[in-house]
Amino acid sequence: MTKTVQVLLARRPQGDVTADCFKRVEVDLAAPAEGQVLIRSRYLSLDPYMRPRMTETRSYTPPFELGKPLTGGVIGEIVASANPKFSAGDTVIGMLDWASHTLHDGKGLRKIDPAIAPLPAWLGTLGMPGFTAWYGMNRLCKPKAGETVFVSAATGAVGQIAGQLAKLAGARVVGCAGDDAKCNFAVRELGYDACFNHRLERDYGAMLDRLCPKGIDADFENVGGKIFHAVFARLSDFARVAFCGAISEYQDKEPMAGPPKMFAIVQRRLSIQGFIISDHLPLMGEFASEVGALVRAGKLKSRETVIDGLDNAPQAFMGLLKGENFGKLVVKVA
Ligand SMILES: NC(=O)c1ccc[n+]([C@@H]2O[C@H](COP(=O)([O-])OP(=O)(O)OC[C@H]3O[C@@H](n4cnc5c(N)ncnc54)[C@H](OP(=O)(O)O)[C@@H]3O)[C@@H](O)[C@H]2O)c1
Repeated sequence: MTKTVQVLLARRPQGDVTADCFKRVEVDLAAPAEGQVLIRSRYLSLDPYMRPRMTETRSYTPPFELGKPLTGGVIGEIVASANPKFSAGDTVIGMLDWASHTLHDGKGLRKIDPAIAPLPAWLGTLGMPGFTAWYGMNRLCKPKAGETVFVSAATGAVGQIAGQLAKLAGARVVGCAGDDAKCNFAVRELGYDACFNHRLERDYGAMLDRLCPKGIDADFENVGGKIFHAVFARLSDFARVAFCGAISEYQDKEPMAGPPKMFAIVQRRLSIQGFIISDHLPLMGEFASEVGALVRAGKLKSRETVIDGLDNAPQAFMGLLKGENFGKLVVKVA
């Protein structure tokens, strides 16, 4: 028997996520049955997509179940194995419970080499957020030298990589982030040409007119809402939008209206493509070799916020939805 701590979904949020949406329990896990492995969690990834999964609305993934552990990207260590593909001591990544230990059938579990990169990087630059940034920027935004690219949530897990990829393509890159320290980091460390603090700025349109005087040729959209409305009105002819997320709308009780003058899509011949990165898994190898090479060459920087302890995961997740993380948010479980 192994005692595990789990974090369950106790209540579906109405509006903002609150602490009573989560419940901590301790459960005894049996030894792995045939085909199973027992995994000790090391790092848990906290991601914005978890918020829509807490409600029952129709989406591309089923909602989390009430009274069951939340799940997420986890890096862990196999502590016992009754599955011939895995041995005790292997480091693995997969969709596991928010828990100290998980019994798992091994499906979708992938071995990783901890010598290649620090463990949190496998949940950030080299993991799902990096893959999302690479696909959205290089395959959908397709920036060219001299073009202007806009990235919202510019220093987040996805945004920080997306912005640097646009710079590597020779574009002028403008972003927005939620405080001055993040904006300074975007310009000084990530190489953005400009970044504005969207929490201080009231008139997004005037700010974008100043920072993107020739219009916006490609938008990597992470935030949605009023920031996207202002960007949409400034898209150039033949502009591309990689619609990655709309975090400013995830906690809205009522759906937000889209931007006015949608006929602009026709007039300006816009391409607006929503995407879910899990639809593009066959490209994972290409992503890993391209982005891995950039990381090894020191051409991609990244920043993480590491929160200590599974018990602090709910608070950290609530903070993510308010911009309290700086870069990729992970929880160090053990
Ligand atoms: N389509 C896909 O397959 C896919 C995959 C991964 C992620 N995503 C989406 O990509 C976006 C970024 O995800 P991430 O993992 O990189 O998260 P993240 O940017 O590391 O963290 C979320 C950030 O969003 C910003 N934010 C939160 N509430 C906001 C609000 N009300 N208004 C404006 N900004 C707000 C905050 O940054 P500031 O402090 O800078 O405002 C916060 O730090 C999210 O929309 C997510 O859902 C999509």
